[in-house]
Amino acid sequence: MVLDQSNLLSSEKYIENYRPQFHFTPESNWMNDPNGMVYYEGEYHLFYQYHPYSTVWGPMHWGHAVSKDLIHWEHLPIALYPDANGAIFSGSAVVDWKDSSGFFNGGTGLVAIFTSADGPKQTQSIAYSTDKGRTWNIYEGNPVLMDENCLDFRDPKVFWHQKSNKWIMVLAVGDHVRIYLSDDLKTWDFASEFGREAGSHEGVWECPDLFELPIGETDKKKWIMIVSIGNDDAHPEGSRTQYFIGEFDGKTFVNDNPNDTILWVDYGRDNYAGVTWSDTLGERRVFIGWMSNWKYANITPTKEWRSAMTLPRELSLSSTSDGIRLTQTPVKEIESIRTEKSKWKNLFIDPNSKNLLADCKGKEIEILAEFELNSATEFGFEVRTSSEEKTIIGYDVTEQELFIDRQRSGDSSFHPLFACRHTARVEPEGNRVKLHLFLDWSSVEVFANSGKTTMTDLIFPSSESEGLALFAVGGDVKLVSLEVYHLNSIWK
Ligand code: FRU
Repeated sequence: MVLDQSNLLSSEKYIENYRPQFHFTPESNWMNDPNGMVYYEGEYHLFYQYHPYSTVWGPMHWGHAVSKDLIHWEHLPIALYPDANGAIFSGSAVVDWKDSSGFFNGGTGLVAIFTSADGPKQTQSIAYSTDKGRTWNIYEGNPVLMDENCLDFRDPKVFWHQKSNKWIMVLAVGDHVRIYLSDDLKTWDFASEFGREAGSHEGVWECPDLFELPIGETDKKKWIMIVSIGNDDAHPEGSRTQYFIGEFDGKTFVNDNPNDTILWVDYGRDNYAGVTWSDTLGERRVFIGWMSNWKYANITPTKEWRSAMTLPRELSLSSTSDGIRLTQTPVKEIESIRTEKSKWKNLFIDPNSKNLLADCKGKEIEILAEFELNSATEFGFEVRTSSEEKTIIGYDVTEQELFIDRQRSGDSSFHPLFACRHTARVEPEGNRVKLHLFLDWSSVEVFANSGKTTMTDLIFPSSESEGLALFAVGGDVKLVSLEVYHLNSIWK
């Protein structure tokens, strides 16, 4: 059956309770991982794990949307439906520039590489599109990769490796990542594996990515491997995403850090299964994650749709005192939806200060703040406040920790572990801490110290909780600068 989504469009969409206004969500029903992200002929494609008949996870399809600026999205019909090889699990898409697959008559086109999930059996399949992703042809030779000995065998991320003139696939296989090579995207040869002993194994490995980035402004480069880990009841954090930094020679990934070094992409609870766009111009590397957590993803209190993506984030590497680390900043295109602006400079905030932000109420807000530490032991923002509710985004000076406290953020009745406070270590730089925040209808995203640490959390406050406050505890903190913007909806 082909589902016509056009009749789902109505003026009531995108104004529902909790509906994000500047984050990607499907018009209706269930979404999880971002898939098949590729830039081609002026369009950023975003496919996603989609269940079109329900707001809970079910037989997976690939939903589809395109954008010219990564911010405003046009919904397109479902791209891939479950077929004889199974449901369509996560995967990637590439531009076949040289027609190595032979699908494009010497021209170019898009090839999607994804997991076919047939009950417990997982294999890799491909499909191709000759019309900019609008329609897809399933390759008759599917599946293109299988291993009968593996049950968890999924989420292929494919890229072209210039130096070795090969397609490279990274695939999650239970407790490690396998690397396969191909000349034509149809035949894949095993090259190596990585990770049985490395990083976090507090959940099954899923959704890998592998790409190279320059270190800061230098001409040195490093390879980054991203690996998500699934929810496990033993761990309150639920599903999370880690990364490794190292070298890749076209066959093998070598970790620069000891096996017990664990690097997290995000220290919040709701940024999972994120990967990056293929074929973006120059060195641009843009990441987007699924803004939820398998611990409670199926039971969050939204009705018409379920789940959103994070903001698209530009990735880079920076040298820190701990070593080379991934840095994330929201894509600069987000500035195009800024509206009213309020600005302050060089003020001291103490526990008796009157709330500077009393007039800045709202649900769609961006805040850029720079603080200089002084005698305050804690400072930060209370967002989405009312007499009953607040979410605190703060900095604990003594512990040198950024935190989000969503214990009183709103509805948390759906899961006992949702109401919580969690932290990330953030060292002041030159005695200063910078916070860049985005509040949408049901989420907060924090980029600290130019994106060296990020925290992404869902919240479900009541519609009336719109207050915003700046606070300091135990002394004063210097507010070097503060900018607050109201943001436009991307759906109107
Ligand atoms: C990650 C994941 C993937 C899988 C997909 C199924 O969230 O479990 O490993 O392909 O979701 O929807």
